[in-house]
Amino acid sequence: MQVNQEFKPTIVAFCCNWCSYAGADLSGTNRLQYPANVKIIRIPCSCRLNPMFILRAFQRGADGVILCGCHPGDCHYTTGNYYARRRMTLLFSMLDFLGIERERTRVEWVSAAEGAKFAATMNEFVETVTKLGENKRLEDLRCKS
Ligand code: FES
Repeated sequence: MQVNQEFKPTIVAFCCNWCSYAGADLSGTNRLQYPANVKIIRIPCSCRLNPMFILRAFQRGADGVILCGCHPGDCHYTTGNYYARRRMTLLFSMLDFLGIERERTRVEWVSAAEGAKFAATMNEFVETVTKLGENKRLEDLRCKS
């Protein structure tokens, strides 16, 4: 597979406030690098993510969307990430139905102490999406200005 070196994918990362966002913060504090095309959106808990947000992100031009939350059992709201996990499982099957490559969406549990894991996950995810190329599946539905 030929990789387009010029292509820089737009990545949306939904991060829960209590763990993953703090993990992203820690990776920045430790000067760990991850691509600038990862746009972080802070959410109170991973269960706040309505799966429609992901479809909307794809519709608006995202090439990959990642959800990061607390490790199972560590959610600040006790069971939020269990709900998120179930919703994302359903969304994955829906993405299959829509023909969007599953690799464009990912769920990762990152604690506040895992800055290195956050940076490594983002680097790996950006590399995967770069190989997949531009998300054209929902192109006709995108809002173009
Ligand atoms: Fe982080 Fe619920 S607060 S997943």
